[in-house]
Amino acid sequence: MVHNQVYEPAEDSFLLADNLRLTPCSKVLDLGSGCGIIAVKAAELGCEVVAVDINPYAVYCVKKNAELLGLRDRIEVLRTDLFASFRLGRVFDVVIFNPPYLPTSDFKLGGWLEKAWDGGRSGREVIARFVDEVGGYLKDGGEVFMVQSSLSKVEETLKQFREKGFKPKILVKMDFDFETLFLINAKKNLKP
Ligand SMILES: C[S@@+](CC[C@H](N)C(=O)[O-])C[C@H]1O[C@@H](n2cnc3c(N)ncnc32)[C@H](O)[C@@H]1O
Repeated sequence: MVHNQVYEPAEDSFLLADNLRLTPCSKVLDLGSGCGIIAVKAAELGCEVVAVDINPYAVYCVKKNAELLGLRDRIEVLRTDLFASFRLGRVFDVVIFNPPYLPTSDFKLGGWLEKAWDGGRSGREVIARFVDEVGGYLKDGGEVFMVQSSLSKVEETLKQFREKGFKPKILVKMDFDFETLFLINAKKNLKP
């Protein structure tokens, strides 16, 4: 089920879901889980999943969908703004994020659904905070899978990952009329 204040899975969600490479039993954080499409997929693949979203309706949907699919014991669900509710030192093997990545104006419609696409003026506000912080919640050698649009400067994101000690690459690219979607994979470098 998808509540009307929650992002309905679209091309970006499917790009991510169809191209995830996950090892059973790995610890996975699904950030910005929306209705839980990615969390459910990871749990079905045998991962231990934590699904988080800033939107309380999304949190409700993930719980409901996990229950309906008999996966509730494999998906912990939390409401948080990015990593704010995690203690530093709680680390995952994989962090997955389909972030709000569209540049938006100062005119806001309001409502929780807007959080799904509102990346601020540059489209990069949430992405930049995410890349800045994610390393603190990943094991050495752990991986990020993240979707981004050509509308919000993918090169900037790759550069920021490198500066933070990751090896980023584009795994998949999908062209649409007004944008190209990229699936980025970034591996956290092992400590020497
Ligand atoms: C594009 S939707 C993706 C939803 C789902 N993962 C999917 O692929 O269909 C982005 C999600 O990120 C959530 N989000 C936006 N900003 C966030 C933040 N600062 N912390 C946590 N979640 C956030 C939104 O509420 C929304 O559910």
